[in-house]
Amino acid sequence: MKQMFAKKPLHVLLEEMKGENRLRRVLGPAALTSLGVGAIIGTGIFVLTGIAAHDKAGPAITLSFAFAGLACIFAALCYSEFASMVPVAGSAYTYAYATLGELFAWIIGWDLILEYAVASATVAHGWSHYFQNFIGIFGLKIPEIFAKSPTEFDPVSGTFFATGTLFDLPAIIITILVTIILVKGIKESAGFNTAMVLVKLFVVVLVIGVGVFYIDTNNWKPFAPFGFTGLSLFGHTIMGQSNTAGAPLGVLAGAAMIFFAYIGFDSVSTHAEEAKNPQRDVPIGIITSLIVCTILYILVAAVITGMVPYNQINIDAPVADAFKQKGLAWAQFIISAGAIAGITSVLLVMMLSQPRIFLAMARDGFLPQGLFGDVHPKYRTPWKSTILTGIFVAILGGLLPLRILAELVNIGTLFAFVVVCSAVLIMRKTHPEAARPFRAPFVPLVPILGIITCLILMFSLPVENWWRLFIWLGIGLVIYFTYGRKHSIMHALIKEENAKGTK
Ligand code: ALA
Repeated sequence: MKQMFAKKPLHVLLEEMKGENRLRRVLGPAALTSLGVGAIIGTGIFVLTGIAAHDKAGPAITLSFAFAGLACIFAALCYSEFASMVPVAGSAYTYAYATLGELFAWIIGWDLILEYAVASATVAHGWSHYFQNFIGIFGLKIPEIFAKSPTEFDPVSGTFFATGTLFDLPAIIITILVTIILVKGIKESAGFNTAMVLVKLFVVVLVIGVGVFYIDTNNWKPFAPFGFTGLSLFGHTIMGQSNTAGAPLGVLAGAAMIFFAYIGFDSVSTHAEEAKNPQRDVPIGIITSLIVCTILYILVAAVITGMVPYNQINIDAPVADAFKQKGLAWAQFIISAGAIAGITSVLLVMMLSQPRIFLAMARDGFLPQGLFGDVHPKYRTPWKSTILTGIFVAILGGLLPLRILAELVNIGTLFAFVVVCSAVLIMRKTHPEAARPFRAPFVPLVPILGIITCLILMFSLPVENWWRLFIWLGIGLVIYFTYGRKHSIMHALIKEENAKGTK
């Protein structure tokens, strides 16, 4: 019991940072903001906007983006406070270790695999959609059996069906390419990322700047065909509408789906250890990237739903397709190309983050050090776990349907946000004196609002996601009790203390 709730002391965390086997400190505020934007704008805005507007929110998807953005801003302020206090790799996992103890730290670390590795698989799928849209402009086509995942989900009946294909080949190929880049090193990756970010910002601004001239305000009526809410409690609708399969519909349900579009700002905090001046620059990176993206998303959503009636929005490549429907083939070309570049940079950052979380967990003894904690002698990257992440992402991305993956990622990430917001509240009580170079404003209000808004989004997701989350966490607990618990550094520390006590 004592071990399960043993917290990793703040001074130990800070002390660890001075040791060997550290990552290189090469990232400044611009590079960190760029990593944030790099991780944020991708499959969410370019693909899921279509599904969410079409199936869940209609033109009111703009409000969905506003609500999800707000929830993220509360969480981002809490992340920033922690990242400035404990600027080591590991993000929410490390924060949980310092505040809630070993068991919770493990749960969050395990949960973050949903956020990063499963998100990467989702993103690889989104990449494949745009890639296929792009080559389609030239009349090319991937053979049908390699074009998508072998199973798909029908949201209306709530059942899976076979698509008759083998796997999503483009998703697998892009995952392999990104893995190779990442094994080579963070500096090169950050440079590549910045170029990609510029391309995708250009594309997003183009969508807004050109699309605005093609808006027909009639397309915004009715504005919220599915209502303004959409909340259910374990399968029982408690607010708003739901579909025949019992999944919530409305602005909140749309927000719970496009929440995916915001995921990634927190990955800036996983790079704290590689930041030159983490206390100042990590909060700047997190908050700036999030605010920029929130504004752009609301505008893009308004433009797309203004260009095309919501029930005619394409669900595979909605942004490029809206321009195609208006006869703007040149814009479709640029948008598809830009989306491919943009989504690549998301994949890059997500797949960069996952091995760093493994690294932090391996250092604490939760995972085998030789595999997950090994930093390459020349490249200084956690290369083995990068390759392992690549394999996991390729398998998931190749085989499972996009919307199932996206919703699973969302619930896992929202759960992590709830824990981080709670941890800020706890830490203010237990360590009021600790140095906080960045302080979340209006505590306890901001963390409490963060918890409430994230919980609302969790309850606006179809109920199966809760079961999937519980199953995932259950598997994690089995691993903790059979491996992590016996190998963790806290286990060794407590044993040492006990031995001293009995002498
Ligand atoms: N926010 C990232 C995306 O939308 C994960 O692709």
